Amino acid sequence: MKDKEKNDQSNAASDIIDILAELIYTLVADTLVFSWKLISDSLSNNDGVKSLSLDNINDSTQSINSLALGYSTSQKKDLLFSDIDTGRHNLVVGASGFGKTTISENFIENDLRNHISVISFDPKGSTESIITLNSLCEFYGRKMYVFSEHYHTGDKFNLFKGLDTTQAVALIMRSFKWENGFYKTKSETALYQVIREVRERDEVLSFHTILKKLDEEEDKKSKEMIAGLISYLQGICFSSFGRLFDIKSNDEGYNISDIRGEGACLYIGLSTQGYGDIAKGIGKIFLCSLLFHSYEVLKERNSLNDKLLTNPISVHFDELGSILVEDFIDLKNKCREAKIRIYSYIQSLADIDAVSPFLKRQIFENSNNIFIQKQCSPDDVDFLSKSVSTIASKKLTKIIENGVEQNLGTTREAFQYVLHPSMFSRLKIGQCVLIRHDPKCVDIINVRYSKTSEALSTRKAPLTINDRVLIRETVDLYKSTQKTTNIDMFS
Ligand SMILES: Nc1ncnc2c1ncn2[C@@H]1O[C@H](COP(=O)(O)OP(=O)(O)O)[C@@H](O)[C@H]1O
Ligand SMILES: [Mg+2]
Repeated sequence: MKDKEKNDQSNAASDIIDILAELIYTLVADTLVFSWKLISDSLSNNDGVKSLSLDNINDSTQSINSLALGYSTSQKKDLLFSDIDTGRHNLVVGASGFGKTTISENFIENDLRNHISVISFDPKGSTESIITLNSLCEFYGRKMYVFSEHYHTGDKFNLFKGLDTTQAVALIMRSFKWENGFYKTKSETALYQVIREVRERDEVLSFHTILKKLDEEEDKKSKEMIAGLISYLQGICFSSFGRLFDIKSNDEGYNISDIRGEGACLYIGLSTQGYGDIAKGIGKIFLCSLLFHSYEVLKERNSLNDKLLTNPISVHFDELGSILVEDFIDLKNKCREAKIRIYSYIQSLADIDAVSPFLKRQIFENSNNIFIQKQCSPDDVDFLSKSVSTIASKKLTKIIENGVEQNLGTTREAFQYVLHPSMFSRLKIGQCVLIRHDPKCVDIINVRYSKTSEALSTRKAPLTINDRVLIRETVDLYKSTQKTTNIDMFS
């Protein structure tokens, strides 16, 4: 009994301490932001610097204009998509639940409206995302391909269509995480041999045939050296994704160029929670496919490439962290010329750091528009606020010549905005700080709720009868293929 009283007393005491701590935190944060406003307001009088303050965060004006990303609380007007140059890549950083997917739906709809095909990576593999993209594609009259373990459309992805042997080998090698250089070299050599052989004999080139041939190696020692590769390929072929790559002829299935040529869209559902490394590996395979596609369309001028270049595509990497590889920066650097625009969505900067410590800065410098939603990590807040002030403090000098701005001369940009770091942790759901490199600008946006657009608000119930039938068929199909895969594979 005494123990219980003691416990109650200490619980009450810790509640009081928590409340006091929160009060002190709020007071200190408010004071900091208020003093910051005073300092920056005084700066604004002298230096043309305008600060973004709590008033901008507390302004809850919303936009319902579907041609706008949202309402700019700093400019006190709608921020139209046409005012954002999304062609030079976009990065959205935000804690879970604060509106990354909502921003992505806004941009996807805007791309479709502007006749840009969309490829959407969804590492959650959620049915809701398939249906949202499907509603948008239907509304804007686009065909949609689905690569997802939950959905059976009959379309298979042909990984190796259009790739030479070196690219085919690289596609597999880059998607696998190699710990040991020796086994890596051995596996690469074995892959070269097998892929060359398949091509010389005019056989079907697929993961399944490569696996079959590697598995036929009779020398026990040689086979042991490529055991990691074999097990990786088995993981893919025997997973629910396996059938989506299992082509029966070299002409079967689509690749990125086919999607683009048709002006179609592609949803790639990779349930990294359900399939872990396999889903991540497949994500990397698609990333490499995009890289090779962008290389191919620029390699030579011919009628096919000219046609492809007239069909721009946008690629949305939701939860990029789960499939990020160093090659990503190659893709970002090169694909703009190939008329591919990239939207990356990440929860925290640690997702990028986990791949390489240099990648963060490269991705930042390489994204014209950076949307920052609520941030909790002090390290991230520090990096982001430094990035904001670096962008805001670069004083471009311009002169106007015949009405056109020149990057020379003495006229400074009219306004620069600055922002106190603690404001990142105060952003509300659906709100973001938008940093643009060009035109240089820092803004606070209340992002429009994507489901208010005509295409999404008039969509059918969350799952239509057809969707349900399709999904049920898929599940049944799985069950039957899963039972027979092991037998069918090598027969
Ligand atoms: N701009 C917005 N306006 C209104 N509600 C929003 C907005 N953005 C997000 N939300 C709300 O927050 C929820 C989570 O948003 P979501 O975009 O899925 O976040 P994330 O992808 O970052 O986890 C949405 O279902 C919606 O209820
Ligand atoms: Mg999301």
